[in-house]
Amino acid sequence: MKKDTFHLNISTSDNLGIGLFKYSLLPDEKFIITNSMLAKMLGYSLKSEFKNLKLDNLFLNAQDRDVFFKTLKKKKRIKFFETTFRKKNGGSLWVAITASQIGSRDKKYLEGIIEDISLHRQMEEKLALERDFMQGLLDNIPDAIYFKDRQNKIIKVNKFYVQGLNLKYEDIIGKTDFDFFSADQAKRMLDDDNYVLNTGKPIVGKIEHNVLPDGSWSQVITTKIPMYDRNGKIIGTMGITRDMTAYANLERERLDMLINALTVLSRVLEMRDPYTSNHNNNVANIAEKIARVLGWDENRLLGIRLAGQLHDLGKIGIPLDILNKPGKLSNLEYRLIQEHVKKCYDIIKDVNFPFSLAETIYQHHERLDGSGYPRELKQDGIILEARILAISDVLESMTSYRPYREALGLEKAMLELQEGSGSRYDSEIVKIVFNLVKDNQGKVFWGIN
Ligand SMILES: [Fe+2]
Ligand SMILES: [Fe+2]
Repeated sequence: MKKDTFHLNISTSDNLGIGLFKYSLLPDEKFIITNSMLAKMLGYSLKSEFKNLKLDNLFLNAQDRDVFFKTLKKKKRIKFFETTFRKKNGGSLWVAITASQIGSRDKKYLEGIIEDISLHRQMEEKLALERDFMQGLLDNIPDAIYFKDRQNKIIKVNKFYVQGLNLKYEDIIGKTDFDFFSADQAKRMLDDDNYVLNTGKPIVGKIEHNVLPDGSWSQVITTKIPMYDRNGKIIGTMGITRDMTAYANLERERLDMLINALTVLSRVLEMRDPYTSNHNNNVANIAEKIARVLGWDENRLLGIRLAGQLHDLGKIGIPLDILNKPGKLSNLEYRLIQEHVKKCYDIIKDVNFPFSLAETIYQHHERLDGSGYPRELKQDGIILEARILAISDVLESMTSYRPYREALGLEKAMLELQEGSGSRYDSEIVKIVFNLVKDNQGKVFWGIN
């Protein structure tokens, strides 16, 4: 390198904030040329002060120094070597050295640049600190947290997630839910992820039953949100899933206690009027069979079963001689019987169920065309549970013996449903009932009464 060129570089480099140097390695060790910026960086006001320094002594870390000179000896050049230098006042400065060795056998020089990277290092340390803080936070939260890319591949998970699957972190990254969960479950998870990716809307607090790889099941509550890049583009999803199994078990125990209490009540009714015992069981069976065709979850199935068991509980307040009176009822007697619906509603309306039990029972004598009682509700005013219960009730009553009449038979009951399909009765449910009968060789598909 010509001397003139080097001078030009020196003045330019001062403006760029880069330290420039030529250092003699042999025969003696000293700085031959430096720019003002290098002196300034290390706290020296004069370039001349710098000339007496030895490069070895500038290294604060002896190990770094050894690696630096070893690499140089081997490769004759070194690129962006990061280390700390001793400043004039004893302080330290993060620098990056890029240098090449030149010269002959007995005259060796080192030429290169030294950059102040303290700001860069500070930023890096700050980022690392933030990263550690975030990771610490993620790992200490007792919920499964996971990040997925647009292709639904898992890109990051926390410790709780790893422990839950009982696998190694490396075995999870890059995989999808299909690698760990049943196809059904993974499909549901995929649908949720895609919903978030495609709409940008979060899914908040979704309750799910999951079967884990070891066969145990859990109830979880999941929230999924979209992840954005700096330009506001959705780049993936973040999910957090909390295990609610213990809580769900408690809830279940509470519910079981309630159900037991109500079952006692219905037993009282059954002791009083033995005909209702079979009736309630059968209605519950029919309603459950219909609901299963509709693909309801276990909780909703339990609700409709319970509604079937308890729907006529209000008859407990009606005199037996009216309830089982042979022959025609007077208007007053008929109105009294109708009151069983409201009576039952009043008994259970304040009991807190995770399904609409009281309302289902309240509506079980309503008809879609408004010809039912007690509120003469119509169409959308009648909930699906009550539509199912109504049809189950008619089907069971007509096929059973009553003290005031013989059993009318399945054929007549089916005729009633067919005639009322679309007017009094929900046509979809009537269709399901017809299919259930057909699948059972045209016979009753519930317990023998
Ligand atoms: Fe009833
Ligand atoms: Fe009934």
